Amino acid sequence: MKHIVSGIKPTGSLNLGTYLGSIKNFVELQNSYSYHHFFLFIADLHAITLPIDRQFLRKKIKELAALYLACGLKQERLSLFIQSEVPAHSHMGYLLQCFTYMGELERMTQYKEKKEQAFEGIPSSLFTYPSLMAGDILLYDAEYVPVGEDQKQHLELTRDIATRINNRFGDFFTVPEPLIPKVGARIKSLAYPEKKMSKSDTDTKGHIDLLDEPHIIRKRIRSAVTDSGADIRFDREGKPGISNLLTIYATLENVSVEAIAARYSNATYKQLKDDLAERVVKELSPIQERYRELINSRELNDILDKGRDEALKVANKKAAKLSRKLGLGRGRR
Ligand code: TYM
Repeated sequence: MKHIVSGIKPTGSLNLGTYLGSIKNFVELQNSYSYHHFFLFIADLHAITLPIDRQFLRKKIKELAALYLACGLKQERLSLFIQSEVPAHSHMGYLLQCFTYMGELERMTQYKEKKEQAFEGIPSSLFTYPSLMAGDILLYDAEYVPVGEDQKQHLELTRDIATRINNRFGDFFTVPEPLIPKVGARIKSLAYPEKKMSKSDTDTKGHIDLLDEPHIIRKRIRSAVTDSGADIRFDREGKPGISNLLTIYATLENVSVEAIAARYSNATYKQLKDDLAERVVKELSPIQERYRELINSRELNDILDKGRDEALKVANKKAAKLSRKLGLGRGRR
């Protein structure tokens, strides 16, 4: 059976950007890729590349696990697990560092942006992060990797690393393809529509978290930054605020942005915002309800145990195989 792999960092509350750019897509892919097995994980090793409070991290790991499921992922053909509970991720990450060039890592946009947030020196893990991410994917020989637009560069590097190793050892890794949604891959901040809606953003006005109460959701959308003029049309450059709202709406409705823009072409900004707020509330209410059932349940722990065990089997085998190819240890005994 072929594999689909993806992860999310538990560095903050899950927001609408991550939901629309990733989890919602996973749920739909489970239906359309009905012959694939899904390895989805909580990327906690990636979360410690910048300092993070340990209690906060623990809480976010559990919260993210419950939210993955609350968003509607089905149990069959799914291994949901916590990355650090499968140590082969760190192992493979190190092996792949030996095949990643400094120049490649220096070019990564996310590294360039994130290093600005490191106040007490830049941890080397922030620099080697893409090799760890390549390991996450290549360990499972993923055919597809569903991600938002911001991860495209890391995926390209993963493909280069895989090809490099394949050139040396024959067809060792499956070279993965990114699956980037047509709409929703780049959800922007509501307060600063030129920036992405990000978990690490400390300015709460810009994002909607999946667990936000309806009155907060309505308030945030009502106060979203819009553009001068009063016409509603999709124009990312000229009207970034309105275009972002239209993108959110279109992704929720699974239609094109043009279709939503046409529906609101004679409406006011207020009408668009009011309707969108109700649409977001309608989307998130059942997710929040299911989340509350799951968060402290035995069921959640059982699912994570099962996911870990399934992931361990595949990942240990692949990491051991590459170690042998490289001549590490005593080989097969
Ligand atoms: P992370 O945790 O930043 O984001 C998780 C996923 O959500 C997407 N995303 C968005 N999509 C649209 N609009 C946004 N505003 C938005 N914000 C986030 C991201 O593109 C991503 O798909 N390095 C990864 C996690 C990771 C991973 C992996 C992903 C680690 N190993 C292996 C895939 C495969 C990250 O930091 O994602």
